[in-house]
Amino acid sequence: MTGGGRGIGAATAVRLARSGVAVVVADRDAEAARAVAGRIWTTGGEALPVEVDVAHTDQVEAAVERAVSWGGGLHLAYNNAGVPGVRAPLAEYPDDVFWRVQRVNVGGVLACMRAELRHMLAGGGGAIVNAASGAGIGGVASSAAYVASKHAVVGLTKTAAVEYAARGIRVNAVAPGLVRTALVEGLADSAFAAAHPAGRAAEPEEVAEAVWWLLEGAPFVTGAVLTVDGGLLAQVPGLS
Ligand SMILES: NC(=O)c1ccc[n+]([C@@H]2O[C@H](COP(=O)([O-])OP(=O)(O)OC[C@H]3O[C@@H](n4cnc5c(N)ncnc54)[C@H](O)[C@@H]3O)[C@@H](O)[C@H]2O)c1
Repeated sequence: MTGGGRGIGAATAVRLARSGVAVVVADRDAEAARAVAGRIWTTGGEALPVEVDVAHTDQVEAAVERAVSWGGGLHLAYNNAGVPGVRAPLAEYPDDVFWRVQRVNVGGVLACMRAELRHMLAGGGGAIVNAASGAGIGGVASSAAYVASKHAVVGLTKTAAVEYAARGIRVNAVAPGLVRTALVEGLADSAFAAAHPAGRAAEPEEVAEAVWWLLEGAPFVTGAVLTVDGGLLAQVPGLS
């Protein structure tokens, strides 16, 4: 799994390890990955920290090779690493930031899925979950790069689901609303959080539970984009 060093990724690494999965905690922050892997070992699980920047295909290929030789195969994957970009109106959105966000959020998911699918095909099947977002379903003002990238993640997820369903590989995405992590520092107690019908932001562990279910508990679910947002996108605008 990528972006396992903190936030939703760290919570998911811990959740998967608790259910007996040997987890590769991949992150561009090597120290954070080591810390999460260490926590897993101390609670009786198995984890390998790996340093990777998902924006670099060669690093992704090497990380997946390492994961496969450590774990003896690859059956489950959670492509979670993502960055938010800056907040700016679309007409003024900086080109360099836009493409950097696509490189990580879209290029990273594509590179990861390419490598993962090869190994899963060789091993007779598997399951992949990608980190989309409510911003992969609707628009969010001043977030053009992030919104475009998460819509692309949804597109890649559905395409891979259709291409590989008959060969035993399921591909789904989670679409969280606001989740209490460093990525959205300061927003967790904002009006945006309160706008979720649940009245609050999610905890990372609540998203981890959905990822776990899609990976291990949903044998006929593929191509799904599962909202994990306390009802945020279920609302009828203006009537709720
Ligand atoms: N927090 C939210 O409200 C929220 C909502 C919807 C979707 N998401 C998505 O969920 C995912 C995880 O979000 P989070 O809130 O846990 O984020 P976070 O910033 O807390 O953690 C992200 C992790 O990914 C790592 N990372 C970032 N860029 C990387 C790269 N290029 N290569 C490898 N690792 C990299 C970081 O080092 C960090 O450990 C992201 O894709 C994000 O877009 C988050």
